[in-house]
This record gives sequence, structure tokens and C-alpha cells, in this order.
Amino acid sequence: MSAEPAGEGSPVAVPPEPAPTGEGSPVAAEPAPPRARIVLGDNLEVLPRLADGSFALIYIDPPFNTGQTQRRASLKMVRDEEGDRTGFKGHRYRTIKLGERRYADVFDDYLEFLWPRLEHAHRLLAPDGSFFLHLDCREVHYAKVACDQIFGRDAFINEIVWAYDYGARSRSRWPAKHDNILWYAKDPRRYVFNFDDIDRIPYMAPGLVGPEKAARGKTPTDVWWQTIVSPQGREKTGYPTQKPLKILERIVRVHSRPGDRLLDFFAGSGSFGEAAVRAERSVVLIDENPEAVEIMRRRLSFAEPVVEVVAPLPA
Ligand SMILES: C[S@@+](CC[C@H](N)C(=O)[O-])C[C@H]1O[C@@H](n2cnc3c(N)ncnc32)[C@H](O)[C@@H]1O
Repeated sequence: MSAEPAGEGSPVAVPPEPAPTGEGSPVAAEPAPPRARIVLGDNLEVLPRLADGSFALIYIDPPFNTGQTQRRASLKMVRDEEGDRTGFKGHRYRTIKLGERRYADVFDDYLEFLWPRLEHAHRLLAPDGSFFLHLDCREVHYAKVACDQIFGRDAFINEIVWAYDYGARSRSRWPAKHDNILWYAKDPRRYVFNFDDIDRIPYMAPGLVGPEKAARGKTPTDVWWQTIVSPQGREKTGYPTQKPLKILERIVRVHSRPGDRLLDFFAGSGSFGEAAVRAERSVVLIDENPEAVEIMRRRLSFAEPVVEVVAPLPA
């Protein structure tokens, strides 16, 4: 791809990449410095320009087909005794809406949208690469059938359930408080799983396992308990549907090696990108929403990301 940073509003054509040489993740004599490349454009325009087999790990978190526009308002509270909320020490506060971030999440035929992108994910994976698809119960079963066809049923390794416990609780059904993350390997006999790099979590009943084990903690199962990004926390970018860094750090650490090249082509606020770069991997991040790209550019400024704009291919 071109390494030229994009000027204001000027589309930069991204030329196709050369095919990688050799098998497996490319091994360079000198590890390339970790860095981030952010691309503004429809991923279906960008993906064909990326070389076969050139990514060790691909994570995507596409829109979930909620049928709604995903919005997140950014608010500021100011002290005002006539205000609409009571806050610290009983003082009254007024809410000022600073702006709103949003993207559309409505699809007539979700699988038709996803399918060609899944095919690219398969093509782009290195021979020992892994693919993670983050969805929820609305579409995951259709997507799994699609991935089984594209990757092969035996390439399915795990379904990870990310369970959280935050927000409104329905009184007419069990509150839906989990997402589904499917893991496929390009080759089910050869993939990266760095067991020793798995973070440890506390035992539920530490009294049953003895002090040494209790102190060390245990490795998680395929159900990962992790709270959502706190609306008040430091991690928050204000982008709707931002995923917690802890989830993505675990995926990056366990399923890739330092120096590897990673890809997220529904990148949003760049949570996967931050996890990748902080763990000494390099990453390509694609999103069609200029607000997402602006957030990623700021969020990853410590890594001096290259930002590119991909103009649509002529019809
Ligand atoms: C669920 S959000 C990703 C959130 C992200 N994982 C995070 O932690 O912030 C899905 C993203 O996909 C982007 N998107 C939807 N369709 C796209 C397309 N065709 N090409 C590129 N990006 C797309 C949206 O703009 C949105 O930012």
C-alpha cells in the first residue's frame, strides 16, 4: 500500500501489495518497527488491494444488524441550580449535548453484505493465521454457517462468549448480556495459541484449590467475563459500540507474535489497533466512517499512524 499520508479530503489510490514470499508469517531479520496504518474507505474497496496470506491475525467487529442507527452522545455537565440532574453532594447540574457520533446498522440482507468480506478474510490470512468474528445472537448463527463454508467446518476452533453485566434489564425476557466471538484457523493443524501468555483470573472458590493455585489464578474458559467500556472511564472514546481493550489484548497476545501484522477491517474507534500496537504488533485498520478514522488517528497518535483515503474503484 502507499505510505503517503492523505491530505485533507484528497483521495489517495492504494496500489495492490506485492504477494508475500515464503510460508507462514513473514520473518524479517530485523523486526519492523510496530506501527499502525489507518484507511478510510469501504472495506470491500480496500481489501482486494491487500496481498494474499499477509496477515497473522484478523479480528472484525462488524455492525450487528440491530436495525438501528448506533449513536453515542457526548455530554458535559455544568453546575446549575435549575439543572435537570442531581449530582455530587446533592448539587444540581445541567446537561449540555456537545455532539453525537453515529453509524447506520440496518441491512436488508446481512449475509450478502458479510459474505464477500469473509472470503477476503480467509484469503488474507497467513497459513498459520487466525480469524476472529465478533457478533451477537442476532446474526452469529447465520455467520457461522457462512464461515463453515468459507473456512471449512474443521477450521472452527472456538466460540467465545463475552459476558458482561451492565445496563438496562428487561422485565419481559432474560436480559441479553453477551456477545459471541467465533474463532477460525486458516489451518486447524497449525495455528498460534500462546498458552503461557494467557492472563490468569481468580478462582470462583479459591478455598477449594489450595493457596498456591489460588494465588496464581486460573486460565479463562471460552466464557470471558469482562465489563463493558465504562461511560465515565478513561478508556472511553465516545464512539458507539467501542469494545473493551482487555478482550482485544487477550486475543492479540494469545493468537499472534510480536512483529506480526494484524488487520481489523471494521475498526471503529481502533480498540483492536491499540491492543495490537501496544503489544508490539503492526496493524492495518479500515473504517468507512470519517469520525472513526479521526478517533483512531488521535487514539494511536503515540504510534504515529499513517492515514490513507481509498477512493471507490471505477464502476
Ligand atoms: C461495531 S463497530 C466497531 C467497533 C470497534 N470494534 C471498536 O471497538 O470501536 C463497526 C464499524 O464498522 C464500520 N463499517 C460498517 N460498514 C463498513 C464498511 N463497508 N467498510 C468499512 N467500515 C464499515 C462502521 O463505521 C463502524 O465503525
